[in-house]
Amino acid sequence: MNKYLVIGNPIDHSLSPKLHNYWIKKNNLKAVYDKKELNSDDLKDLIEKVREKNISGINVTVPFKKEIIPHLDRLTLDAEATQSVNTIILTNDGKIVGHNTDINGFENAIKDTKYNLLGKKVLVLGSGGVAPSIIFALYKMKVSSVILSNRTKSKAENLQNLYNKIKIVDWGELPEFDMIVNTTSVGLKKDENLDLDFSKIGKNKFFYDVIYNPRETNFLKKGKDLGNKIENGKKMFIFQAAKAFKIWHDIQPNIDDEVIKLLD
Ligand code: ATR
Repeated sequence: MNKYLVIGNPIDHSLSPKLHNYWIKKNNLKAVYDKKELNSDDLKDLIEKVREKNISGINVTVPFKKEIIPHLDRLTLDAEATQSVNTIILTNDGKIVGHNTDINGFENAIKDTKYNLLGKKVLVLGSGGVAPSIIFALYKMKVSSVILSNRTKSKAENLQNLYNKIKIVDWGELPEFDMIVNTTSVGLKKDENLDLDFSKIGKNKFFYDVIYNPRETNFLKKGKDLGNKIENGKKMFIFQAAKAFKIWHDIQPNIDDEVIKLLD
């Protein structure tokens, strides 16, 4: 029985086991996908287990997407460019490779909404685990500019080492934008609110939240009330998982209404 894992801290909330085990069953694979909360000190031993073939693949979530990198043998170009790994596999030639499927997840999720990002001005809120992948995907989809704002400005400035063309604004400032992406953790708890004043931003913008549970964060509610298009992170989550599934099992899993409902 091949064993797969998602690691993070915290990890209890993760819906990856539910989704992967669903696809494993649908495809009659002999595998099981589990979750494990761990600490930085555990990463080295965990990767050894992949090398010894006790674990066949790992998904990595916050806060280890960058921290895992020194333990791996190779990175794909996307993982290298973002310094962010969310999927690990042992290749046939015995190398442990880190992939980043969040980029593809976000890209496919945006394509799915039919929103055309070409030439758009995008404001990104937050500089945590998923922000580098979102920014990479935005440039890939040829936005005209990315403006970044994070409560702790130094963390936004660190991302300028990867993407020197991003502009940074102070937390609380809202420059003009076509699309705004919330990558902060604010909204995971139902009553949480970003301390930003959206009242003057106008209509016909696109509010995107990486969070999908709750389905409609206060950020999305506000965007909708003000007459804007909104979308949560559910499809991004599904698409990133689908790409990881393909990497591990070489099977493109089905994304249908049943899958989408599974995560409600
Ligand atoms: P990590 O930082 O460990 O990668 P994350 O959940 O990926 O974790 O990132 C959390 C993001 O949410 C950060 O950008 C964080 O801002 P700080 O860098 O200032 O901590 C942001 N965040 C969390 N709580 C916030 C709040 N109350 N207001 C604004 N931003 C917040």
